[in-house]
Amino acid sequence: MKLTNNEIAYFKRFSVIVITGGSSGIGCSIIKAILKLRPELWICNLSRSKPDIFLGENGLHQGVDLSDPAALAEVADALLQRLSEAPPGELLLVNNSGFGDYGRMHELKQQKQLAMIDLNIRAVVDLSTRLLPTLLARRGVIVNIASTAAFQPTPFLAIYGATKAFVRNWSLALNEDLRGTGVRALAVCPGPTRSNFFKAAGFTSPPIGQKSGGGLDMTSEEVALRTLRAIAQKKALVVTGWKNQCITFFGSKMPITWVARIGAIILRKLRLEQHKP
Ligand SMILES: NC(=O)c1ccc[n+]([C@@H]2O[C@H](COP(=O)([O-])OP(=O)(O)OC[C@H]3O[C@@H](n4cnc5c(N)ncnc54)[C@H](OP(=O)(O)O)[C@@H]3O)[C@@H](O)[C@H]2O)c1
Repeated sequence: MKLTNNEIAYFKRFSVIVITGGSSGIGCSIIKAILKLRPELWICNLSRSKPDIFLGENGLHQGVDLSDPAALAEVADALLQRLSEAPPGELLLVNNSGFGDYGRMHELKQQKQLAMIDLNIRAVVDLSTRLLPTLLARRGVIVNIASTAAFQPTPFLAIYGATKAFVRNWSLALNEDLRGTGVRALAVCPGPTRSNFFKAAGFTSPPIGQKSGGGLDMTSEEVALRTLRAIAQKKALVVTGWKNQCITFFGSKMPITWVARIGAIILRKLRLEQHKP
């Protein structure tokens, strides 16, 4: 997939990008794709580990555990200072950091589930609202990386799917709240994507698509390009790829209790496979 000249030209308006989770996967691919378009852009990355890529002449990495509200508050102050020094231009905020944890609720560690809520939900709202005054002054776009998991209950990933449903719904409502202000919000819903996500979520082997060759998985580079295209096309929501779009569409037409049951059957199979010697 390639961006059109008009889509590429759209990115001239941005002078600074703040991104979370640029150290791997989708976040890292978004940084690479945007630096290819605008090498002079100021990039501020927030994640625990430093990205293994060049962040550009004006790149900055702030090491932070975003699931820790006090650490986020501290880093946000430094970030706001940095943003006040950035050249004029719009601000692109990409809330991308997130993780899942695979298993039955009563067998999972409660602390990890709460940390997931802190990272996938609390940090997204906290960082966005702290940056909103700057966004309103500069204008710009808030990109929230949700998931196709946002469209239905996700047994065995129960908290994860619920956090992504929050992100999707909040992002769409935020976009309406911001109408007329020069700031927009975009919810990006990738399906299974090749990254560190599944390993971090506790899968021992690659799940759907990646193992079966079922064609449901995408590279993080494809997801990054589809995200940039959706920004340039001023979309409020994008589900990456037609197969993921079909699944979310047909899922939305079925009774939600059926969708939960079918999801449990599919995801339980992965669990059984995970536990095979
Ligand atoms: N891969 C998929 O199939 C898929 C599908 C739909 C949606 N998504 C979403 O896409 C986003 C990116 O995931 P990915 O697939 O690129 O997975 P990934 O390769 O595991 O990347 C996750 C990123 O989140 C950061 N992160 C994790 N915990 C953090 C913390 N406590 N504080 C700050 N940053 C933290 C990680 O950086 P550090 O470890 O350096 O902190 C890393 O850069 C996530 O929100 C995920 O839910 C993924």
